[in-house]
Amino acid sequence: MAILPIITVPDPRLRKVSTLVDSVDAEVLKLLDDMLETMYDAPGIGLAAIQVAVPKRIVVVDTGKTEEARAPLFLINPEVVWASEELSVYNEGCLSVPDYYDDVKRSARVRVRHIDRAGAVQEFDADGLLATVVQHELEHLEGGLFIDHLSRLKRERVVKRLTKVARYDEIAAQNRVEPASEEAGA
Ligand code: NI
Repeated sequence: MAILPIITVPDPRLRKVSTLVDSVDAEVLKLLDDMLETMYDAPGIGLAAIQVAVPKRIVVVDTGKTEEARAPLFLINPEVVWASEELSVYNEGCLSVPDYYDDVKRSARVRVRHIDRAGAVQEFDADGLLATVVQHELEHLEGGLFIDHLSRLKRERVVKRLTKVARYDEIAAQNRVEPASEEAGA
């Protein structure tokens, strides 16, 4: 397994619509394992493949609070087939929107259909935190982000700050690279 780099706002790849997986092959299984390790390492409770720059409809979720309580869900081509009218509010965050949390209203309960690691179609009902996480992750597959639920003013403020951070990181990375290439005699 490997820890994959997580892309963050304003990376335009986060706005891509992910494509369906046609077969659960070794490559997909490896991606699921790598995504799970990446999510645990971050740490986070949900991760969509597009967050590691793979535009495929693949999600991993684990709302277990401790290592002993771990119960990973591997969702391939997931879809919400039913959602309650009743809503609930959670203070959400996202590994692709670092250091920002805000309240988002979503359906309190959902039924999810997906393909599992063996290639079989499965369905499950989710409520509470799990319902929120699943809806948050499925939104990523459509190129959405939880900050899209906020007011334009709040969203623009977050994107502006993260754009500055990204520029700073780029400059820092360039400065790190230069002495190394000199050493290599490039
Ligand atoms: Ni997210």
